Amino acid sequence: MAGWHVRDFGPDDLEAVVRLDAESGLGDRPAAFRLSDVVAALHGEHPAVVAVADGHLVGAAVGRRDADRAWILRIALHPAWRNLGMGSALVAALEHRLHESGARTVAAVLREDESGATALRNSGFLRREGMTYFEKPQAVTAQDVVLLKSLDAAVPSAGLWARLAGMEKEKHLIERRLVLPLAHSELAAQHGVEPPRAVVLFGPPGTGKSTFARAVASRLGWPFAEIFPARLALEEGMAPGLRRRFDEIAQLDHVVVFIDEVEDVAGRRTEAAGHGAIGVVNELLTSIVRFRDRDSRLLICATNDVSALDPAFLRHGRFDYVLPVGPPDVEARRALWSSYLAGAATEADIPALADASEGFTPADIAQVARLVAQSAFERTLDTGHRSHSVTEDYLRTISNTRPTVTRTMAEQFADQSELFGRT
Ligand SMILES: Nc1ncnc2c1ncn2[C@@H]1O[C@H](COP(=O)(O)OP(=O)(O)OP(=O)(O)O)[C@@H](O)[C@H]1O
Ligand SMILES: [Mg+2]
Repeated sequence: MAGWHVRDFGPDDLEAVVRLDAESGLGDRPAAFRLSDVVAALHGEHPAVVAVADGHLVGAAVGRRDADRAWILRIALHPAWRNLGMGSALVAALEHRLHESGARTVAAVLREDESGATALRNSGFLRREGMTYFEKPQAVTAQDVVLLKSLDAAVPSAGLWARLAGMEKEKHLIERRLVLPLAHSELAAQHGVEPPRAVVLFGPPGTGKSTFARAVASRLGWPFAEIFPARLALEEGMAPGLRRRFDEIAQLDHVVVFIDEVEDVAGRRTEAAGHGAIGVVNELLTSIVRFRDRDSRLLICATNDVSALDPAFLRHGRFDYVLPVGPPDVEARRALWSSYLAGAATEADIPALADASEGFTPADIAQVARLVAQSAFERTLDTGHRSHSVTEDYLRTISNTRPTVTRTMAEQFADQSELFGRT
């Protein structure tokens, strides 16, 4: 074969490097550094060298310097030019450039079967044993960011799930049925498990349905987009508004869509609902069917009154699950009290508070904690002595607070769970 030589990368080489990358046999599975990383480094004028034979670009090595450490992002060789020392020559030239630019350590991460391992070994690079490469793919790309803004959607902050206190039963169910199959969709598919596309959460007010919906998006790292039917009704009519919102949201590759108080849009069609309402229910049903067409999207609808929903809405094939989110049991109330009192200077008897607050939702417990904290704060200001809240303060406030979930509501919820729940 004819001779070859190594020279610095020039802007005109970009296209040839991209082509070479495709030819050098990486296939579909991505290397540690993606082609977009390579191109970004080349655009950013990080050091890179190419090998040329007979006027054609047949090899390339691309680096990236970060402070005093540099990475070799790619060693690409045309298949016909392997094992001729070209890789080592490219590495040597690139190393030289990286050191010149200020790097003191040069490192490389290669996929097992990626070209370049021999070249690195021949150039004195040591293979570090016992290391594992970790990566967290970000579900949102840069161009999504613009789109998300225009759709009024955002990825909720990380850690919402972990901050949900108690509610172990609900957490367990939602994690198993929703989060895990979506987060591990390939493994789910291998087991013949279809990831969920749409679910209903139902339960009394303030039990945490909205919070759970957000926490699911936070767990998945997916954007969260809420649809406000009442707002749509004011702006452009409910049915056309729903259609438009669903179409817009369809542009996102990953998304959790949330509709709260869905009974307002999906109430029984027969009742004195009127023609317009029928159109809306039908529109929503159609939107759900279309929404179900694609992977990596989850619709969560929440309602306080699942029995008010149109039966067609709850039929199989529309929603994968109809999950009850009940008032917290005593265990959950303990967890909630602990979490709400964590910041307050108090040694209140948490089990006693949990026992006394049956029927209290997370929202009620938060409210009591807030009231007690406020009065302690005011006492401190009034007396000039730092006031601590004691168990009695909480118990008194609890007994002055009407629980959101009355006994009748709790019974109704239990009945509805039996009747409508699909877990
Ligand atoms: N498990 C929990 N841990 C801590 N706080 C919680 C938990 N669940 C709910 N909360 C808090 O309780 C309040 C009410 O929760 P949320 O709005 O999610 O209830 P909801 O079921 O959606 O109520 P509604 O039916 O009225 O819409 C929120 O301030 C939320 O932060
Ligand atoms: Mg809510």
